[in-house]
Amino acid sequence: MQFARKDVLDMESLSVAEIQAVLDTAETLKEISTRPIKKVPTLRGKTVIHFFYEPSTRTRTSFEIAAKRLSADTVSISASTSSISKGETLADTAKNLEAMNPDAIVIRHSAAGAPHLLARLVNASVINAGDGMHAHPTQALLDMMTVREKKGHIDGLRLAIIGDIAHSRVARSNIIGFVKMGAEVVLAGPPTMIPMGIETLGALVSYDVVEVIKDADVVMVLRIQKERLQAFAYSSEREYAQCYGLTEDKLAEAKKDLLIMHPGPINRGLEIAPEVAEGPYSVILEQVANGVAIRMALLYLLLGGPR
Ligand code: CP
Repeated sequence: MQFARKDVLDMESLSVAEIQAVLDTAETLKEISTRPIKKVPTLRGKTVIHFFYEPSTRTRTSFEIAAKRLSADTVSISASTSSISKGETLADTAKNLEAMNPDAIVIRHSAAGAPHLLARLVNASVINAGDGMHAHPTQALLDMMTVREKKGHIDGLRLAIIGDIAHSRVARSNIIGFVKMGAEVVLAGPPTMIPMGIETLGALVSYDVVEVIKDADVVMVLRIQKERLQAFAYSSEREYAQCYGLTEDKLAEAKKDLLIMHPGPINRGLEIAPEVAEGPYSVILEQVANGVAIRMALLYLLLGGPR
């Protein structure tokens, strides 16, 4: 299957065939990370700029590792150490980066749509590493890879996404991606954290976490996005942890082969109990490992052949 696109900006625009191509390629490339010499020459001579306006540990590190394992040259820019801190606009920054002729720009930005704007301004491939509360497509792809690896398929599975749906770009990208791949997606959390009309993305909504967990093949717990909240949208953190946090007692009737996921970073003891995050159902660190493979696959598919 030819991956003929210039950019990867969201899950809406990726077809089922393209998603499958990314997952298949990532599965093949994953083995490179287990070798004593973790490097192949595939993207030698290509330049990838990592342009992060917002903090990141997993996404930024795994993109850098992915590019380096494919032998691309990498440059990192953050908002605080670039001329953005002097007031330069995204459009001007884009034009200046373009003048240096990079092959790809990976961008994380607090404004929804920033990667889409950048993609219109530059010839380089643009990959969205998370934009505001809008989209985080590479997180959804690595989540899909983890589920497919563990379950053998995605279609027909029931995915429960629990927590702060309203502020979550991870939720939005995963709903669109998993529904597209034939899974049933159920959202659960307090009404203040589930936006009205979210069902239009193809997900069901429930407010009964224990009931949702009972029928789920995969439970994805979301971080409470304190940095995006004006005020905590529940009576107290303690009460949230009791009612909606994933604790061992809420797993009493869960399926024996349940997968528990979390995109990270974790608020331990709030949305997930430490013993669940590190318990037998958890695949959280496998998600992180697959992040490198997915980002290698995207860079390879976008830059590795004639566009
Ligand atoms: N999952 C995720 O995006 O983590 P980071 O914010 O650490 O990149």
